[in-house]
Amino acid sequence: MKVLVMTSSPNEDGLTAACGEAARQGVVDGHSRARVVNLNGFHLERCVVCDDGWGTCRSKHECSLDDDFPSLQQMFVEAEAYVWVTPVYFGEPSETFKALFDRLRRCEASKPEGSASVLLGKPTVAIAAAGGSGGGAVHCLIEMERLARQLGAAPFDFISVTQGTREYQLETIHDALVTMCTAAPRVMKEPLADPRRGRRAPRSPSRRHGGDEKRGART
Ligand SMILES: Cc1cc2nc3c(=O)[nH]c(=O)nc-3n(C[C@H](O)[C@H](O)[C@H](O)COP(=O)(O)O)c2cc1C
Repeated sequence: MKVLVMTSSPNEDGLTAACGEAARQGVVDGHSRARVVNLNGFHLERCVVCDDGWGTCRSKHECSLDDDFPSLQQMFVEAEAYVWVTPVYFGEPSETFKALFDRLRRCEASKPEGSASVLLGKPTVAIAAAGGSGGGAVHCLIEMERLARQLGAAPFDFISVTQGTREYQLETIHDALVTMCTAAPRVMKEPLADPRRGRRAPRSPSRRHGGDEKRGART
C-alpha cells in the first residue's frame, strides 16, 4: 500500500513532525511505502473564489491558480491511503492545511455522480498535534473528519496528541499505521458509505470478486 503522510507545521522538529515520523515508521513496519511531505515547503495560495463562487474547480475539477496545488493533487491520486497531520491552531487545522484542503474539496467534492473523488474509499488517519492544554484538539479532529467525509475518503482513525500525551500517543500513531496497512484491505471489503449523497456507494464487480485485496496489496 502506498501511503501519503502530509504534515503542515513550520517547525521541522516540533510535535507535528514527530507525529509524521511515527506514522512513517508505522507504514514501513506495516510493510508498506510511505511518502512524507510537509505542506509548508510548498507554494500554496488560498482559494480566491473565482467568478460567482465556482471556477474551474467545478467545471474541470482543477484549480486555476498557478502554484504547487496540481502536484499535490496528483499525490492524492497516486496514494492508496493517507495520514493528515496538523498542529492545532485556534482549535482548527493550520492555515497551510486549510489552504490545501479548501481547494481540494472544491475540485474533488464537486465531481458528478460516476466520476469519483480521487480519495474515494481510501483509508485515512487524521492527527491533531496540540499544545499543552489540548484545548480545541477535538474540534480540530471534527473538522478533519468532515473534510475526509466530504472528500469521500474512508476515515480509519482520529488521534489527538499533546506534549503531555506525546510519549504514548506516538506509539498509538505508529500502531494505527501498522494496523491500517495490514488490516485496511480487509476493512475495505465492507461497502463504503458515500458521504456526499447520503447513501452507499455502488460496489464494482471487481470489488465483489476480491479486487480489493489486489487494490490494497502491499507494494
Ligand atoms: C497560532 C497558534 C494557535 C494555537 N492554538 C492552539 C489551540 O487552540 N489549542 C492548543 O492546544 N494548542 C494551540 N497551539 C499550540 C500548538 O498546537 C502546539 O504548539 C503544537 O505542538 C504545534 O505544533 P508544532 O510542534 O509542530 O509546531 C497554538 C499555537 C499557535 C502558534
